[in-house]
Amino acid sequence: MNEFSVSAISPSNIAIVKYWGKHGNQLPNNPSISFTLSRCHTETQVFCKNNNSDNYKLHFLFEGKESPKFQEKIEKYLVENQQYFGFLRGLDLEIVSSNSFPHSSGIASSAASMSALVLCLLKIEKAVNQDVTPLDMQKASFLSRLASGSASRSVYPVMALWGATPSVSNSSDDYAVPLEDIVHPVFKTYHDSILIVSNKEKSVSSRVGHSLMNGHPLAESRYATARKNTERLLEVLKNGDLSEFIDIAEAEALQLHEMMATSTPPYKLVEPNTLNIIEAVRNYRQETKIPVCFTLDAGPNVHLLYPDADDARVKNFIKENLLQYCHDNQCIDDVVQNKTNL
Ligand code: PMV
Repeated sequence: MNEFSVSAISPSNIAIVKYWGKHGNQLPNNPSISFTLSRCHTETQVFCKNNNSDNYKLHFLFEGKESPKFQEKIEKYLVENQQYFGFLRGLDLEIVSSNSFPHSSGIASSAASMSALVLCLLKIEKAVNQDVTPLDMQKASFLSRLASGSASRSVYPVMALWGATPSVSNSSDDYAVPLEDIVHPVFKTYHDSILIVSNKEKSVSSRVGHSLMNGHPLAESRYATARKNTERLLEVLKNGDLSEFIDIAEAEALQLHEMMATSTPPYKLVEPNTLNIIEAVRNYRQETKIPVCFTLDAGPNVHLLYPDADDARVKNFIKENLLQYCHDNQCIDDVVQNKTNL
């Protein structure tokens, strides 16, 4: 085969129990659980050509433009993990990638982009070795984790667990496992409306954020809470207790940002409008008893989580009460992904 191409679509995900703090080669200090999204995804295509040499060469284009920063990140990843990528030798790779969500939405995209890249690399391996067996998703999760921890969870639909925890016998720090089979049907209907408070790049990257957990005075208690919340959430995912789900999701979001506020040096990624939205959501829930809650990623944008049964009412609440706090009234309506994107 002189020339061939592969492609993959992989979604972003939103963690309910958060991964924050790592050790060794991208190993998590506590387990995490996320919803896999469907509309926020990365689509990657790789055009491969034999170059009759012993090396590989790559050229990366993001949304039609050169992206030296991302190209460097991919090259570093491939060099650091070269024992898994021997099959690339002798190929020129033109990698073309784009996101389904707006460029400047402030949405972290490494989970989607790195897992889409890994899925393409595994497809190249199959093409080179003329292997027709289905893709090994555990391997995809493992290799995605080495690129970006949270990317390990993006390869499975519905929900995924990354990190060893006592009640899930096949759970591992090395890769994520799917939770689809244990999840109560209500969670398969969940919406995630992402309220874009700011579209600016974060002032402190997740890489730096993770490293500030080393030696953090509250680190051990944070990891213990996250381990407990993982077990609590696994129970909730089975029994569909939405009130307990809300308690865990909001406590985890706030604790993530507390870690930032109490690190050395301290920093803050939430903005006044993040807090305005949180307050409005809590008041609305109290008044209406609608089980809508918020979570936060490492940034100021608010993810509103709610079951499909309440979609119309929550959408109306967003329009009437929350868009005023968003940059350019921007909100991205996403839903949990129920099928595998390959
Ligand atoms: O995968 P990273 O290194 O970008 O870290 C992600 C950290 C959080 O998004 C804040 C939490 C999580 O579990 O996704």
